[in-house]
Amino acid sequence: TTVVADTGDIDSIIRLKPVDATTNPSLILKAASTPQYAELIDQALAAVKQLPASAQLPAALEAVSVAFGAEILKHIPGVISTEVDARYSFDIAATLAQARRVIAQYRALGISRDRVLVKIASTWEGICAARLLEQEGIRCNLTLLFSFTQAQAAAEAKATLISPFVGRILDWYAAKTGETYTSETDPGVCSVKAIYEYYKAVGHDTIVMGASFRNTGEIRALAGCDKLTIGPALLDALAKESEPLTAQLTAESIVPRPRLAELTEA
Ligand code: E4P
Repeated sequence: TTVVADTGDIDSIIRLKPVDATTNPSLILKAASTPQYAELIDQALAAVKQLPASAQLPAALEAVSVAFGAEILKHIPGVISTEVDARYSFDIAATLAQARRVIAQYRALGISRDRVLVKIASTWEGICAARLLEQEGIRCNLTLLFSFTQAQAAAEAKATLISPFVGRILDWYAAKTGETYTSETDPGVCSVKAIYEYYKAVGHDTIVMGASFRNTGEIRALAGCDKLTIGPALLDALAKESEPLTAQLTAESIVPRPRLAELTEA
């Protein structure tokens, strides 16, 4: 399982050293609201200020998301998932145009499209757009995925990766049924397992990346999945839970070794 950090906070990325990272507009807004990234944001907005007033807000969202993505890429070996504007989720042409703009902005910063996954909502229009983008070499992360049917359609569209939203599925079932679930019965966990098993059985190449986690139990229950994207707080909680186990394993693996002198004598 590849560990992916679900955050726009560059300091957390530096500290946690994930392979990949995922961002979304609320994560970028949260990171952008802290003073240490003011310079990064000013640089990103310099070109946007030249645009007509009506074009400034959408352009600013794209520019800031790409600026954070580019900065994060300096600290990870893998790929960044960038999501900009969910307003285009039901519009194929607008989704295509935005994905191409985002990739062009990364290219202008010297970043290959191979290191970027454009996040697109798993609506029917989003899946159609992803099919076309993948054909032209723009890799897509089909996000906001809540059902097996969406997963089937995403794989048939040859999307590079899907993000089934474990916690959001759980929230929906919990609100509907009033039940509490264990990690084994958690409907979000069960949904990802079913998708993963189906993909592997059928031979789909699309990567399954569990997302939107609510607790470490869900994460542990999905160990073995292709990728899991996890926020810094839950990554820290996982590390804390693993400390006693790591200590125990380390102690057990320390076998007394003969000193060099003893070996020479023998
Ligand atoms: C993943 O790509 C998303 O950014 C994230 O996991 C969303 O989770 P949420 O349900 O906490 O918003």
